[in-house]
Amino acid sequence: MAMDGSEELDGSELGTKAFWDAAYSREVENFKSHKDVGEVWFGEDSMDRVIRYIERCDEITESSSILDVGCGNGLFLIELACAGYTDVTGVDYAADAVKLARMVAEDKKVAVTFETADFMSVSTFGVCRYIESVRRLVRPGGLLLITSCNWTASELTAHLCPTFHAREDSANAQLLIRRMLR
Ligand SMILES: C[S@@+](CC[C@H](N)C(=O)[O-])C[C@H]1O[C@@H](n2cnc3c(N)ncnc32)[C@H](O)[C@@H]1O
Repeated sequence: MAMDGSEELDGSELGTKAFWDAAYSREVENFKSHKDVGEVWFGEDSMDRVIRYIERCDEITESSSILDVGCGNGLFLIELACAGYTDVTGVDYAADAVKLARMVAEDKKVAVTFETADFMSVSTFGVCRYIESVRRLVRPGGLLLITSCNWTASELTAHLCPTFHAREDSANAQLLIRRMLR
């Protein structure tokens, strides 16, 4: 997903809804036939690092409101729910991703809300539509945790600040930033 139209990378099929619809349609069938929860796209190590970070973060409590945008199979939130987090919601624009996430959550017997939604639809604002969409979803003072496979940490910082304040900039391009209080 390009953040700034002026520096848009060549299109990849991973940037199309058709790709994700097809991927999660297959994964729904796989789950139905042999309970395979499917792909964790950034890898389980990456997911675990973010979860461990959340657990260590003094500002995030078990009752904090946590939204996973592009939740896919929902495993990240399901793991958080298993760890005791109670206000967790996932959105994905692929209806079958949401279907899969609901099936996995039911199988693991945890309460997580999953909804089908295109998070980019909250904004129609020109070249920085991604940033504007994210800004609208994070309350002032709230935290945005972002994992990116096509932007480096410094590129993310350059694009997202000053809308957000960079809080932590780790070498593995996982970035914790705070929405500015305005
Ligand atoms: C790389 S996958 C990551 C899925 C999951 N978070 C994981 O780590 O396995 C990106 C996800 O974002 C979803 N997605 C892409 N653009 C979206 C949009 N505009 N609104 C909602 N979901 C979107 C895709 O359907 C896909 O599930």
